[in-house]
Amino acid sequence: MLIRLAYTSTFKPHITEADIGELTEKAADFNKRNHITGILAVEGERVCQILEGPKEAVEKLFESIQRDQRHFGVVELDVAPIDKPRFEAWGMVRRPMVDIVTLAFSL
Ligand SMILES: Cc1cc2nc3c(=O)[nH]c(=O)nc-3n(C[C@H](O)[C@H](O)[C@H](O)COP(=O)(O)O)c2cc1C
Repeated sequence: MLIRLAYTSTFKPHITEADIGELTEKAADFNKRNHITGILAVEGERVCQILEGPKEAVEKLFESIQRDQRHFGVVELDVAPIDKPRFEAWGMVRRPMVDIVTLAFSL
């Protein structure tokens, strides 16, 4: 069963662009190996991420993400079963926040 999960959070103030770049690279690698895809938007310190993939894999990853000390205030926005991944070409890509809003209205 495939699911899509969306959440928001806030990076801690000491997190730099370089940290986010490194995080995204590692995430892309892990996600690809685990059949997870998704997009990440960062605007200032605010984060929004959409993850999709096998239910167990996404839920396990989201547990790690919730424990991650680089951000706080994780709020799950939505989780729902899906027929087909929307971001299947990517493991994890960074996109502008406006793209996430646009996607949310076109899912
Ligand atoms: C905002 C944010 C988004 C993240 N997204 C992912 C992701 O998509 N894939 C991933 O493997 N790790 C992601 N991470 C990193 C995980 O939280 C965690 O560091 C990674 O799963 C390794 O966890 P472990 O040290 O418990 O094994 C993200 C971290 C943050 C702060």
